[in-house]
Amino acid sequence: MPFLLDSPEAVAQARQSAAVDFEAFWADVAGHYEWMNPWHTVCDWEFETPRVRWFDGAKLNMTANCLDRHVAAGHGDRNAILWEPNDPADDTVAITYAELHGRVCRFANVLKSRGVGKGDRVALYLPMVPELAVAVLACARIGAVHSVVFAGFSARSLADRIQDAGAVCVITSDGMKRGAKGLALKAVVDEALAECPTITTNLVVRHTGEDVQWNTDRDVWLHEALTAVSGDCPPEPMDSEDLLFILYTSGSTGKPKGVVHTCGGYMVYAGYSFANVFQYQPGDVYWCTADIGWITGHSYIVYGPLLNGATTVMFEGVPTYPSPGRFWEVCEKLKVNQFYTAPTAIRALMACEPRFAKGHDLSALKVIGSVGEPINEEAWQWYHDAIGGGECALVDTWWQTETGGILISGLGAHSPMKPAHAGYPLPGISPVLVDGDGNTLEGEAEGYLCIDRPWPSMIRTTYGDHERCRNVYFSAFKGKYFTGDGARRDADGMFRIIGRVDDVVNVSGHRFGTAEIEDAIDSHPAVAECAVIGYPHPIKGQAVHAYVILKDGALPSTEEGITALRKEIGVQVNTEIGNIARPDRIQFTPGLPKTRSGKIMRRILRKVASGEHDQLGDTSTLLDPTVVDGVIAGAAEFLA
Ligand code: WT7
Repeated sequence: MPFLLDSPEAVAQARQSAAVDFEAFWADVAGHYEWMNPWHTVCDWEFETPRVRWFDGAKLNMTANCLDRHVAAGHGDRNAILWEPNDPADDTVAITYAELHGRVCRFANVLKSRGVGKGDRVALYLPMVPELAVAVLACARIGAVHSVVFAGFSARSLADRIQDAGAVCVITSDGMKRGAKGLALKAVVDEALAECPTITTNLVVRHTGEDVQWNTDRDVWLHEALTAVSGDCPPEPMDSEDLLFILYTSGSTGKPKGVVHTCGGYMVYAGYSFANVFQYQPGDVYWCTADIGWITGHSYIVYGPLLNGATTVMFEGVPTYPSPGRFWEVCEKLKVNQFYTAPTAIRALMACEPRFAKGHDLSALKVIGSVGEPINEEAWQWYHDAIGGGECALVDTWWQTETGGILISGLGAHSPMKPAHAGYPLPGISPVLVDGDGNTLEGEAEGYLCIDRPWPSMIRTTYGDHERCRNVYFSAFKGKYFTGDGARRDADGMFRIIGRVDDVVNVSGHRFGTAEIEDAIDSHPAVAECAVIGYPHPIKGQAVHAYVILKDGALPSTEEGITALRKEIGVQVNTEIGNIARPDRIQFTPGLPKTRSGKIMRRILRKVASGEHDQLGDTSTLLDPTVVDGVIAGAAEFLA
């Protein structure tokens, strides 16, 4: 089987062979990579424990496949990364495969010189600068496990993640720029490290040039350390199931959990899915606008593209800086062929039409992609027409941090497109819909989205807590991986993702557990109790509505006092989690609708926040149905 399925017939054939023998299918795909040692078992799995092992016995190094392989094939001069800085006045920086290889090796030697080795955990808290990609690859080079933390999370969140992983090293920069805003990253790290005794090195990238506090026991300037090491660093041979990285993500309960991905399977799937979804051809310029702090950046800025010898754009800024034309300016300037972004960005930029999208030459675009949340039909249509010129393939890619790669999506122009539908699973992937009792639904149906067979890049465990992994993903429906999403399958077998069915909100494509935000709000001294839900938001997809019961006497008597208290609670969320989780609405309420057993009826809160209080359904099990009237009255100011 060819690696790139470049026609509808090739796709159909791959589907067929995966259905006949999925292990042989994946062995075939894996055969397109460079292994230091062959596997003895393609896949060893059962979904009870769960135990999932791919390509057991094999040895490999991810970076040998991302870098050395391409340089050895004579492609060292190709651009690996095109870095587009925050400020449009600054030049694009091109890094070839040969240069990237050199920089990764040198960076890897800096890590080694600080005692970091195979299996050690390294936390990365960096802006979207080339050093972030280099650091990720340097970890993979020596077998250290990276844990990238989005540089918008608070010191508290960073410390939690460092502690959970027992990281020995953290890599950051002096500061960062994102649009017109700046952030003193090193200062955030300093605050976090006060509670992180396992960290022995803080490697600091000089980026903004701003002043920083210095702790000589621990802090090391990267540029100084780089001059003291050699540029030669052979790739560490890794077992297929050795950890490649941990990435923290939110669930319906508890603190964010560390999703674990391993070397062999993740490599096979990241490269395969990138090649086929985006139909990348040599010489193309590919741009994914995500941040490497999320899984999208891991799989489709760094690993997937580099495994394919692609040119991947890394963008430091934001879509609206200095103007909402920035994305299209960059697409024109770099002649971008594949463009991959989130519905929230599409909707925000759509609101700025026609001034900004028109007048840019977007004719190089061939494939445009969407990821992170359901894309509504209006946004889909605008993206297709105004950006894709009505001629590009639009791929709506459904996947999750836990799946490691895109599972349901069109494959370039080789699949039928239908607005707001992710479409068909990639060859080798077997999604199923089940009802509440776990019965598999056939044909046209709506239900809980599960996957009933393993795929190479699936989650292996949640770091340090395997029982949690079993409980969250493998216990709801026996013998199946449960995604947490609801979905519909049409008569043609195309999937439409409806959204989360658990207590997870998706704000601008960022995932938060409602419980996590509730914990942050509860930690404010004036708060007695609260409940958080997501409500539909025209740009963000979902936004956060917090219903807050204050302690006796804590409700301010003036309008100004109320505004100030809301702000304080917002800051509390900012401090505990990060600005991205801050509620859009904080409603002070005397009560919450609870059942006789004390459970909050979130369904009612969701309806009220969506302005659908005339469709509350059965409220007869409520302890005090009159509470609902107070909740509705309090919500009125937000719904006006
Ligand atoms: C959740 C996963 C993996 C990409 C970034 C988000 C939602 C993701 C789509 C899509 C509808 C989508 C799901 C999923 N989601 N892509 N194309 N259509 N919903 O990763 O933070 O792990 O969130 O994002 O609800 O479960 P994540």
